[in-house]
Amino acid sequence: MRAQPEGQPGRDSAANEPHRHRQVAEGFGADAERYDRARPSYPSALVERIVAASPGPGVLDVGCGTGIAARQFQAAGCRVLGIDPDARMADQARQSGVEVEVAAFETWDPAGRAFDVVIAGQAWHWVDPVAGAAKAAQVLHPGGRLAVFWNAFQPPPGLGEAFAEVYRQVLPDSPNLWRAGPILDAYLKMCAKAADGIRQARAFGGPEQWRFGWDRPYTRREWLEQVPTFGGHTQLPPARLEDLLAGIGAAIDAVGGSFTMSYTTVAVTAARLASP
Ligand SMILES: C[S@@+](CC[C@H](N)C(=O)[O-])C[C@H]1O[C@@H](n2cnc3c(N)ncnc32)[C@H](O)[C@@H]1O
Repeated sequence: MRAQPEGQPGRDSAANEPHRHRQVAEGFGADAERYDRARPSYPSALVERIVAASPGPGVLDVGCGTGIAARQFQAAGCRVLGIDPDARMADQARQSGVEVEVAAFETWDPAGRAFDVVIAGQAWHWVDPVAGAAKAAQVLHPGGRLAVFWNAFQPPPGLGEAFAEVYRQVLPDSPNLWRAGPILDAYLKMCAKAADGIRQARAFGGPEQWRFGWDRPYTRREWLEQVPTFGGHTQLPPARLEDLLAGIGAAIDAVGGSFTMSYTTVAVTAARLASP
């Protein structure tokens, strides 16, 4: 059973190709309402920096999900089209005013349209990084920007280890992201892979990495609300999910019933060359 925040197959898996796990990649919509309610948005400094570094307001949001990032770019004055292969996520996004086409990015037909910015929030690892970068190059205006980003999180010392122990006990066969050490490392591997894909497209300037640090306090209830939205968790047998939530809840109770999660939003970004 592959069940991890964002569904990465662990820090050191040899077969580190989450985009091949289509059941997980397209499983988030099992509870799209909860996803939209529980998942954090992105720092406004990230949105502002992407907008400032782009030649215009036309945004394509790849793997837009329920529209969490799309709405932030709309609020910043952009015109956003979302793409997502999961019709349930797309429906949720439409209800909040985001226009969405249901398709995987690699096979989506842009029908001649071009964009100033291509973004992907928590989604680029579900897209083939080489085919995805080539497709982004195809749909970007010269000078347009590709920006893919993730919210990497780090619980306070001790709590991450306690979460790791719960996963070890409840899902012993699942790769364990919570193991000791910075979780950011797993996200930096995804960033490196995204940067490689961008270089291979041979249509972009050198990829840059941007980082934004922020904190968010969680009560036990708020964190447990988010856990079932993590990659692969919608496919867990209900009893396993219940055990997971009970164990995580007990770990949070043991530190007083609330905690502050440290987030680092990491972005990999590059500008489309005028002539590759
Ligand atoms: C973790 S969610 C992120 C949703 C949203 N961008 C956000 O920031 O909350 C990942 C999304 O990527 C979508 N996805 C999976 N494979 C994809 C692909 N090949 N092309 C485009 N989107 C994909 C999933 O359906 C899901 O909605």
